[in-house]
Amino acid sequence: MTDSTVQKSVEKSRIFSGIQPTGNLHLGNYLGAIRNWVSLQHEFESIYCVVDLHAITVHQNPGDLRKSTREVAASLIAAGISTDRSILFNQSCVPQHAELAWIFNCVARLGWLNRMTQFKEKAGKNRENASVGLYAYPTLMAADILAYRATHVPVGEDQKQHLELTRDIAQAFNSIFECEVFPLPEPQIFGSATRVMSLRDGSAKMSKSDISDNSRINMTDNADLIMQKIRKAKTDPDALPSEVAGLVGRPEASNLVAIYAALADCRIEDVLAEFGGRGFGDFKPALGDLAVSKLSPIGDEMRRLLKNPADIDAILADGAERAAAITRPILAEVRDVVGFLGASTDL
Ligand code: TRP
Repeated sequence: MTDSTVQKSVEKSRIFSGIQPTGNLHLGNYLGAIRNWVSLQHEFESIYCVVDLHAITVHQNPGDLRKSTREVAASLIAAGISTDRSILFNQSCVPQHAELAWIFNCVARLGWLNRMTQFKEKAGKNRENASVGLYAYPTLMAADILAYRATHVPVGEDQKQHLELTRDIAQAFNSIFECEVFPLPEPQIFGSATRVMSLRDGSAKMSKSDISDNSRINMTDNADLIMQKIRKAKTDPDALPSEVAGLVGRPEASNLVAIYAALADCRIEDVLAEFGGRGFGDFKPALGDLAVSKLSPIGDEMRRLLKNPADIDAILADGAERAAAITRPILAEVRDVVGFLGASTDL
């Protein structure tokens, strides 16, 4: 093999994903994303990024941003992201993200960004007052992914449109500059991911912004609190059905069964085979024990890690160096293709 074929096959499957540094990570984040990231690192070269540049598209209190960045990093490590196997870093430490995002701002068209539904939702009614950064959020996300020539991007359903835009930008760049610099990354929508709903309302997503803390299980909740929240979770008076069809129209029962199946790594059918015909008085303690056994070791480890913030900072700094080593030559190629003289001097 020539050097470049070796290079290509190494790069054949590379995962990139990002997570916002927001406080209050909960069971929904764990079962919806983090757990998948942990298992993907065994199959792919994986790069995971705490997206602090994205966070400031809406105002962040600086102290809170620092705290949340460390918390998210700690939760990923505690959940099993190996910092030897994977690269874990915070976005702002690798300036190539911002550099490439600017170039992509000059490739993406206003019309493409105008279609982004997340911007419309986040900007709300007062669009004139939204930051320019919030509008350009998707070009930065494209830069995150393409700065590494990532081929696979694990994201939730809500990020699918941004991934399509990323592919459009990659294609447009290659075509404008008559090159093959960027691959078209594939979304990996988590098929197996569980959409975790609120414990107080089975038709609303579990959310960090719900005013009731009883609506969610936070990754840092201790065993007693987890048990208590599950005991208080809303249910209906009927026993659990033995067949999946019996869950229709029972959002709270469906949610708790789905959480059990996800935590036990089994199918809904298996849960119903065991608990069908039994009431919540039996099911809730079993679910509570299971949730405690899976989550409290992660919470304990998070708390332990957060006692030494300097150690987390060092892990992120090491990740940033390894990330930069991958993206620096890619950005050099981009700069050359675009016609920029010289090299960016980030180090
Ligand atoms: N926008 C993503 C979210 O809100 C986070 C993100 C930023 C991301 N950059 C990324 C996800 C790159 C995947 C790849 O969930």
